[in-house]
Amino acid sequence: MTDIELTVNGEPRRATVEPRTSLADLLRDGLGLTGTTLGCEHGVCGSCTVLLDGAAVRACLTLAVQAAGHEVRTVEGLADGDRLHPLQEAFAAEHALQCGFCTPGFLMLLAGALAAEPELDRDERRLDQVLASNLCRCTGYVGIRRAAAHAAARLRGEAYDDREADEDGEDGVPGGSV
Ligand code: FES
Ligand code: FES
Repeated sequence: MTDIELTVNGEPRRATVEPRTSLADLLRDGLGLTGTTLGCEHGVCGSCTVLLDGAAVRACLTLAVQAAGHEVRTVEGLADGDRLHPLQEAFAAEHALQCGFCTPGFLMLLAGALAAEPELDRDERRLDQVLASNLCRCTGYVGIRRAAAHAAARLRGEAYDDREADEDGEDGVPGGSV
């Protein structure tokens, strides 16, 4: 067993883990943060996506010991108290989820991507490249793309009017179609 210290959602945390313990298992079983969902546990689906020092990683493929000394952000750390993150509000507004199993992973994937590339939504191909990292079996991705554009605009301090996009036949994604 190995003692590690890390920061999770801004809080210093300590844990004792086996060298083979995944970051996902540490978060879910060790720290009680079950918002990070486990789908395939093989690095394919992306449902377990969290931010490690601001970059999206698969928590099922990341060892807990690799997170020692680093900063982890999970879906539980997205909202600011009672105030939802713009991505969470956009997912609700744009019907970007059905069963919701994939949603924490998409939220964290986009949180990391939009922090690194605030104008990601303006490049349809690039946005699709990012979203292709994660699997959703319910939505067909239309609402997720629209939510990404919606949140990106709000994070830039711009108004987002999906009616304009719909009138242009662009499904709410500026400059693109599904
Ligand atoms: S559970 Fe981690 S990628 Fe599927
Ligand atoms: S909302 Fe069900 S898998 Fe994405």
